[in-house]
Amino acid sequence: MDTSLVKAAEVLAGSRFTLALTGAGISVESGIPDFRSAGGLWARFNPAEYATIEAFRQDPHKVWRMLAEMDRLLVRSRPNPAHLGLAELERLGYLQFVITQNVDNLHQAGGSQRVIEFHGNAATLACLACHAVYSRAEVSNQAVPPKCVCGQVLKPEVIFFGEEIPPPVLAQAHDLVSLARVLLVIGTSAEVAPASMLPRLAKEHGATIVEINPEKTRLTDELTDILLQGRAGEIIPALVAELKRRTTDGWPPVTGCSRSAPRPG
Ligand code: APR
Repeated sequence: MDTSLVKAAEVLAGSRFTLALTGAGISVESGIPDFRSAGGLWARFNPAEYATIEAFRQDPHKVWRMLAEMDRLLVRSRPNPAHLGLAELERLGYLQFVITQNVDNLHQAGGSQRVIEFHGNAATLACLACHAVYSRAEVSNQAVPPKCVCGQVLKPEVIFFGEEIPPPVLAQAHDLVSLARVLLVIGTSAEVAPASMLPRLAKEHGATIVEINPEKTRLTDELTDILLQGRAGEIIPALVAELKRRTTDGWPPVTGCSRSAPRPG
């Protein structure tokens, strides 16, 4: 058994408040390309032209060429073993919240109950003119780009570059990260602020950083305590199995703490 994985299972087993910060990499095994790996979305669509709020306001029809391609992948995607594994960790009491940069709803579809969507969710769309909100299903029979009854082109309720993270979401993420004893950082290049600042905040408050990624990132040498190098769809189920093995082997020694009662600290 990989010693890093055993060590990661030990820190998870001993933590009373664990969070996961996830990025596009956790959904790659669900068929959704990430953004910055070779062949990622930004290799085909320049984010400066397709992913800023200014670009959307100037030419929504052009931006919808990228959004339509993403949406075709999202509607077909299903949770993979990494999403299912995080939901299992939550059920077992080893994970308290997921903070995700993803807009694909796959954590919720995989059974995670406590999910904070840092960049919104593509399943709802809003009108920038009259602020009406629609579900994806309500507009699925429309031609692309979908329009509001007021005639304006609708925008998925995801955070574009140049938009701020909703202050309540940012505040909740900061509060939780400041309490974390362990932060799992899964499938993110940590290139985009303010999400990319959360691991440093966790570290400054004494958290152990466990990174799951096939490649090193800008976090790895600077902040990461345990790097589990590989695909999330393999590593997370292995972590779950190791924690379950320990529990059935009478590990951890019963300390009277109930795993189902997640408590900060
Ligand atoms: N398992 C784990 N990690 C993976 C896997 C996998 N199977 N496949 C790829 N990765 C890793 C890559 O090595 C990379 O480090 O996932 C990371 C994906 O990085 P990005 O493509 O930059 O995605 P992300 O970090 O989520 O981007 C952050 O940038 O463009 C914006 O709004 C967008 O939310 C996004 C934000």
